[in-house]
Amino acid sequence: MLFRRKRPAGVDPADPYAIENASRDEISALQLQRLQQTLKRAYDGSPFYRKHFDAHGVSPDNVRSLDDLSKFPFTVKQDLRDNYPFGMFAVPQDQIARLHASSGTTGKPTVVAYTKNDIDVWSEVVARSIRAAGGRPGDIVHVAYGYGLFTGGLGAHYGAERLGCTVVPISGGMTERQVMLIEDFKPKIIMVTPSYMLSILDAYRKAGLDPRASSLKIGIFGAEPWTNAMRQEIEQAFDMDATDIYGLSEIIGPGVSQECIETKDGLHIWEDHFYPEVIDPETGAVLPDGELGELVFTSLTKEAFPIIRYRTRDLTRLLPGTARTMRRMEKVTGRSDDMIILRGVNVFPSQIEEQIIKCADLAPHYEIELTRDDRLDKMTVRCECRTPGSALNVGPAMASELSHHIKSVIGVSARVEVVEVGQIARSEGKAKRVTDLRPPR
Ligand code: DLL
Repeated sequence: MLFRRKRPAGVDPADPYAIENASRDEISALQLQRLQQTLKRAYDGSPFYRKHFDAHGVSPDNVRSLDDLSKFPFTVKQDLRDNYPFGMFAVPQDQIARLHASSGTTGKPTVVAYTKNDIDVWSEVVARSIRAAGGRPGDIVHVAYGYGLFTGGLGAHYGAERLGCTVVPISGGMTERQVMLIEDFKPKIIMVTPSYMLSILDAYRKAGLDPRASSLKIGIFGAEPWTNAMRQEIEQAFDMDATDIYGLSEIIGPGVSQECIETKDGLHIWEDHFYPEVIDPETGAVLPDGELGELVFTSLTKEAFPIIRYRTRDLTRLLPGTARTMRRMEKVTGRSDDMIILRGVNVFPSQIEEQIIKCADLAPHYEIELTRDDRLDKMTVRCECRTPGSALNVGPAMASELSHHIKSVIGVSARVEVVEVGQIARSEGKAKRVTDLRPPR
């Protein structure tokens, strides 16, 4: 049986976006009803979840409140790997309309599945996200997220179509051509990773074009951490509003949460489809709203691949709604797996990014290398000067300014290398910031 997605009583059935401002009571009631259905669907349909719930002595029949969810076990990435490729799914293969996968760092990718209804929900949450970012029907949307098994391209594409936009499905890569098509088609909106937006910015400048004169007015950036400092950098460079979109393939793809253009104060979670918890990553205990911890999601309407208490590894806190009644999550500035532990100090690449952007003569491209000499961990931050040919002149002064900021704000010593313009590898999708060359201890 497929889910019928009923609207809560107080929500205007004629307004597809009214749900975003439903009262907290309406949202909770809807969440509980959908949670009960989802747990049952997972237990009845997915051999993995039946075993998982039985092994932990929990049953979908005993869920009377949203708090009861905390009795259920977590799902982790390893569970997806162990059940590769289709062992997690809750519907027969002939009901699966689409598969996506995220490239595993080691070996096999993790595979996710969607029924037709799931694609419909996904399109709806991405449409909402684009609208929250300021997009409207009729706008031209340049989608430079990668198309293919990655959820970015097709997720953005279906959402933009659903909203009634004109989609340019360019995908990632061929950066000069991206610039040409932006100039010729005049999109108002671009959806792309923030690091690839910087590559597009470089290509604009290289072509002798003024990015501030481009048609782009709204950026919907995500798939990787980026800081508010980077937001300002991009907004100033393009004279646009830069908003944050979050998501992960295991939960649906892009469109789990989105920043509203009027507030830009964190990302509203589309709570009628995704139930968030923030937990203490050490103990697994659920933390109250406002406390920083690891984000955990339970899908509330997915059919092919219901996912229960998935540990995202992303660190954030839950905040009350502002532009919408649905709760916000603070901008994710790091994943627990990206955290660098350097001589006992925890450092996230995003903290380094903030310090780089503070230095006027440095471009926002960077990479971090970790090495070990004489049993001592060392961090090298490599970044580029802004003006071609200036690395030799301003490089040493910039390097000492940046290492001073890193030391005084973050509390670690870093060797800084300032290299020539274009020497840091450019990303066409998610940027790889850290290379860890330290041998295992
Ligand atoms: O990156 C889905 C996506 C595509 C989101 C396009 C937004 C835009 P995955 O490849 O499964 O899915 O990677 C998910 O990327 O757990 C975060 O660590 C990171 N991530 C995604 N969005 C953001 C964001 C897509 N806005 C993983 N800020 C997540 C910080 C993000 N990190």
